[in-house]
Amino acid sequence: MRQRCSKRGFLIFVLGALSLQLLYKLIFIIYCDKEWAKDALHKLCDHYRNGLIDGNICHALCVSDEFKYQECFNYRHRKLALKMDWNGRPVMLKSLNPYLENFIPDLNKLRVTLDNSGKFDKQTSLNLLRNKLSSQIKKYVQPTTFNFDDVYKKMWTGNSFNFGKEEIISIGSLGLQREYLFLQFYTDILNFPDVLGTCGHMYLVEYTPPPWTLNPSASGLQEVSSLTSWTWNHRVKLALAFLSMLRTFEEHFHDVFYLCDIKHPNFGVTDDFVVKAIDVDMAYFKQTVENFMRKRRCTKETAQSACRFFDCITECDENIGKCKPYRINSNFQVVCKKIFIGDSLHPGILRSPPKEVASRLDALLHQCSNTFQNGNLATANSTFYNLKNLLEQTITV
Ligand SMILES: Nc1ncnc2c1ncn2[C@@H]1O[C@H](COP(=O)(O)OP(=O)(O)O)[C@@H](O)[C@H]1O
Ligand SMILES: [Mg+2]
Repeated sequence: MRQRCSKRGFLIFVLGALSLQLLYKLIFIIYCDKEWAKDALHKLCDHYRNGLIDGNICHALCVSDEFKYQECFNYRHRKLALKMDWNGRPVMLKSLNPYLENFIPDLNKLRVTLDNSGKFDKQTSLNLLRNKLSSQIKKYVQPTTFNFDDVYKKMWTGNSFNFGKEEIISIGSLGLQREYLFLQFYTDILNFPDVLGTCGHMYLVEYTPPPWTLNPSASGLQEVSSLTSWTWNHRVKLALAFLSMLRTFEEHFHDVFYLCDIKHPNFGVTDDFVVKAIDVDMAYFKQTVENFMRKRRCTKETAQSACRFFDCITECDENIGKCKPYRINSNFQVVCKKIFIGDSLHPGILRSPPKEVASRLDALLHQCSNTFQNGNLATANSTFYNLKNLLEQTITV
């Protein structure tokens, strides 16, 4: 009997050890680590040394060794997000894909190859790049006027303008990244991080971390919950900074800017309380969202998932079996729900208010998180103003 028990115990122990090992391997496959990040940087610098890429920070990154790797925030094989120290300044090195090779299919369309197999014809590649960039920019950035030379100047950080292979490869791969396009085009908007430079397909932006990181005691899983230990005054300032960003995104552009992936990690904050959208891969202009929503098929049963693109929600037109194009919620509604109120796993920044304002605040938060109309003009409605006023009243300077 005892022998059978110990055999069973041994079996459980072995199975437990195996599953732990499997779990460890899975985590290792999914998350990046120092070795992986350094390897991605080495590969980038090899390309620079081979004359395949260029950009204003390549020399500092690959030759004069001015950057020190600090941390990576991405999953392997997905968007690259590395925190680096640049002569004492924290910065983020980013790219939609970690390796230049990930862009090969698109670069081939510009008639450039990363090896010497294809002949490089400057004029042909430049014409193809011109077409590609103008379609990308008209589609996503939607500037009121478009002039290729101006666009090129905005996109290119290198000193030379000779349209060589290294320039075409670098701009060709950067031009495929919507986040880079947005940041370089809307440099006048405070609510985007500044681009500091590029090297090949990677771009360097200012480090504006999600708010919890500013709390020195924050680490690991307690990250978001550590926000609750911020003083009310700080949290209100942060909430007001969110409101100011929402106003900008409704008013500043030619069309309302829809943030379709609103969550704590996608927003950073500066020391002087400016909220910055640090992940704009799921942000589109209103018209773009409407164009792709109206093509989606739906039924009464599938409406909830079919007519929803992350935080951008529309309704099903059951008569024609397609989603209605118009968003029924707004950036403001989602920020109220996910950032201000939160849930048990992600405490909102306006939790635990002072007693004097608790019930008024509660009513306003209830209103704004449940307002499913007028998606575009949310910051013009009275709830927005009332919330802003109430918050301002509670600040002590
Ligand atoms: N400019 C930045 N400043 C500080 N941290 C950043 C910045 N950009 C990204 N990060 C960090 O890296 C993480 C991943 O970057 P993100 O662009 O959100 O990629 P993903 O598509 O993987 O969500 C973010 O959640 C944030 O923690
Ligand atoms: Mg993100």
